[in-house]
Amino acid sequence: MRIAVGVTGASGAIYGYTLIKALYDLGIEVHAVYTDMGLKVLEYECGHSIEVIQKYATVYDNADLFAPLASGSFKMNGMVVVPCSMHTLGALAGASGRDLLTRAADVTLKEGRKLVVVPRETPMTPIHLENMLKLARSGVVVMPAAPGFYHKPATVDDIVAFMAGKILDIFDIEHALFKRWGN
Ligand SMILES: Cc1cc2nc3c(=O)[nH]c(=O)nc-3n(C[C@H](O)[C@H](O)[C@H](O)COP(=O)(O)O)c2cc1C
Repeated sequence: MRIAVGVTGASGAIYGYTLIKALYDLGIEVHAVYTDMGLKVLEYECGHSIEVIQKYATVYDNADLFAPLASGSFKMNGMVVVPCSMHTLGALAGASGRDLLTRAADVTLKEGRKLVVVPRETPMTPIHLENMLKLARSGVVVMPAAPGFYHKPATVDDIVAFMAGKILDIFDIEHALFKRWGN
């Protein structure tokens, strides 16, 4: 499998990092693109530079519209934008394609592949909600960063792993990131 991960400057860089590492650990090919603010928030919240991400993924420059992810002919199983800022959410809803992240997401949709968007903001305005509705109506899986607590997380890592696991579930990828209800 081959999955693209786009990471923006919303809070929750650890969600992107955890997903990328989980995919890598499961033997899945990961192609990652960070926005400029995504890189800054990764450094600020996690203390990681992009070199850490490069251990687990092929990382592209967001300005590089010649990169493989910019074309539908580059086969992918899908893409996840996590965490997704309200800025990028608006760009996705407008099919902007002005940088690699938004172009790759637009390509994912037009090719009929799975696109998962994990918005992070609170509270939300009607503009944010309308953008999410627009995407959901186009077949995007909108999965707000709203982890559950019914699996009784003991650590922040457990909370984050829950979200990463819910994303993997969308792609039907087996994982052990959280304990399932009823198991
Ligand atoms: C520490 C930090 C946390 C932020 N958290 C959020 C957030 O949770 N949601 C959001 O929409 N924007 C958040 N922002 C603002 C975005 O980074 C800003 O809107 C930026 O333009 C997003 O650009 P991008 O979508 O290209 O990454 C945050 C900024 C900083 C510095």
